[in-house]
Amino acid sequence: MSLAMSTSQFWLIGWQLLLIAAGYPEEARHPCAFIDTANITGGYNMGNLGGSLNGSYVYNWTVIPKELVTAYDFVIENGIRVPAARHLRACVCKLRPCVRFCCPAGQLYELQRRRCVAPTGDGPQPPGHSHMTVELHNGSRLSIELRARFSVHVETPCDHMRALTKDSVYLNWTLHENGSITHREHLFTKHYCFTPLRVGNSSWNWQPLACAPEKLHFALGVREWTYAICLLICIISMFIVLIVHLMCSGMRNSFYGVAIKAYTTCVIFGYALLAHLTLHDPANLSAAACRVIPSLALLFLVLSFYILSFISFKLYVSFHGVVFTKLMFWLIFGPIVLIAVGWSVFVGFSYYGAKLVFGGDTCWFDPRNWSIMIYFFAPIFVACAISGFFYLLTLIRICDDPDLDAEKSFESLERNRLKSFWKFFTYTALTYFVCVCSFAVNYYREERSHLNYAVCFGTAFHGFAALYALIGKNQQIQHFLRRIDENNDEDTCENSVPMSIY
Ligand SMILES: *[C@@H]1O[C@H](CO)[C@@H](O)[C@H](O)[C@H]1NC(C)=O
Ligand SMILES: *[C@@H]1O[C@H](CO)[C@@H](O)[C@H](O)[C@H]1NC(C)=O
Ligand SMILES: *[C@@H]1O[C@H](CO)[C@@H](O)[C@H](O)[C@H]1NC(C)=O
Ligand SMILES: *[C@@H]1O[C@H](CO)[C@@H](O)[C@H](O)[C@H]1NC(C)=O
Ligand SMILES: *[C@@H]1O[C@H](CO)[C@@H](O)[C@H](O)[C@H]1NC(C)=O
Ligand SMILES: *[C@@H]1O[C@H](CO)[C@@H](O)[C@H](O)[C@H]1NC(C)=O
Ligand SMILES: *[C@@H]1O[C@H](CO)[C@@H](O)[C@H](O)[C@H]1NC(C)=O
Repeated sequence: MSLAMSTSQFWLIGWQLLLIAAGYPEEARHPCAFIDTANITGGYNMGNLGGSLNGSYVYNWTVIPKELVTAYDFVIENGIRVPAARHLRACVCKLRPCVRFCCPAGQLYELQRRRCVAPTGDGPQPPGHSHMTVELHNGSRLSIELRARFSVHVETPCDHMRALTKDSVYLNWTLHENGSITHREHLFTKHYCFTPLRVGNSSWNWQPLACAPEKLHFALGVREWTYAICLLICIISMFIVLIVHLMCSGMRNSFYGVAIKAYTTCVIFGYALLAHLTLHDPANLSAAACRVIPSLALLFLVLSFYILSFISFKLYVSFHGVVFTKLMFWLIFGPIVLIAVGWSVFVGFSYYGAKLVFGGDTCWFDPRNWSIMIYFFAPIFVACAISGFFYLLTLIRICDDPDLDAEKSFESLERNRLKSFWKFFTYTALTYFVCVCSFAVNYYREERSHLNYAVCFGTAFHGFAALYALIGKNQQIQHFLRRIDENNDEDTCENSVPMSIY
């Protein structure tokens, strides 16, 4: 007995899981699909009156049995479940078959502009909603009055509707008495609406439109490969910067060197993850990978900018002659890392609109909304503002007090660092400015991607900027490289200063 129970329970759970997997979780708990329901708030519950109506609802002069009424705490917009205030919905399409029109009578749905427009040009007006040709059960086709047999709705189920064509010819779909629309045994989707379509000059035809898929099409074209190669160029450049800073003992021992090494490491990991995301179809990534990889990429890239802010703070402080101890360094650096980790975890669990920021059909920020501006570019902008603030303070300090009473060699070393760092910072900010602009341009041109060639080449430029500014313009590194050239003595840096000074 108990075995039989558990087996039947097993099958029940299995069936429910199947329903959820099939994408109709609402039908498992609700008497019909969401599209077949209507909001009946404002109707009357006849339960209190007893009698023949017995718990049914009356809405707009129609009696709706209570088994067709359920409370909903969501609505479905554009195929996405959106939380909403709790309200009653009834399966009106089970009482009477539903017919949906995209637009009010006399208008037609324009596919390009995605809205209802009045027909242009002369010729007959589009047909009204009163009559339509319907195929009856016995196979005969009649033009019947719709409201007598159908529940008529005027709405577009999705913001973006598209026409189904075969070899760019519209098909002749037939509306049946029971509300389904077919063409040679093919059933049209429930998520449809009818729009009038001009046939020749003199007549109109009803054409059903279906919800356009909201999924982003994954493309691996020249642009994606260019981007991946540019990311690789930048990674290699950063790697060279990292190696040189690791080898140069003066840099190895200074906090500036440690910060630059942390920065290059962050950029290498961040860009490597971005390259991975660019080259992989989100459909082939697991749901977990689709959230973890972009969160990690976000962490490394945002952290890299806060390391730059930290360096500019450190340079400012050193012009005040403040000695940076190891403890101070880690006391500031630790919280920066913690904040960046916290931010990326927060974004990983955040919703933008009704969708997760990461996950779903994109494994990076969705280019169709402004989420990247809020979650990625805004923190970067804050980091840049902090850096700029400390740079200004440093400049004021240098102008006020041209002969700082510090040691002369230390003074020039620090000034050279300031120069080379700020060259690099300017190029980095420029690169990200290009990214922001190209995102905005893509957004307004309705390009379904973050990428364009400006972003690709900007990324490679970022790598070259690091080589030029951090290695080419840093005298300490230059001295060190010249030393290697002369006598292959790796461990001497001309200007190497013991760590205690910083
Ligand atoms: C349902 O209808 C009521 C009354 O028309 C309205 O106040 C409410 O916002 C509607 N709910 C939804 C989720 O559309
Ligand atoms: C009224 O409801 C009760 C139980 O809910 C049911 O037994 C009865 O048949 C209903 N009467 C009518 C007229 O539907
Ligand atoms: C109420 O019913 C009438 C006809 O029966 C219909 O024209 C009208 O659109 C309906 N109103 C609502 C809110 O469903
Ligand atoms: C089908 O039924 C309709 C009425 O229900 C009738 O007018 C029509 O003549 C019938 N057609 C055939 C072929 O029987
Ligand atoms: C659709 O029907 C019309 C007439 O009813 C016909 O002229 C046209 O060729 C048909 N189109 C297709 C694709 O069958
Ligand atoms: C409606 O009728 C058509 C043709 O008679 C049939 O193919 C279709 O399956 C029916 N749909 C429903 C939901 O009963
Ligand atoms: C449609 O109308 C235009 C002018 O309004 C005319 O030039 C064209 O020949 C007409 N086409 C047909 C198929 O009648």
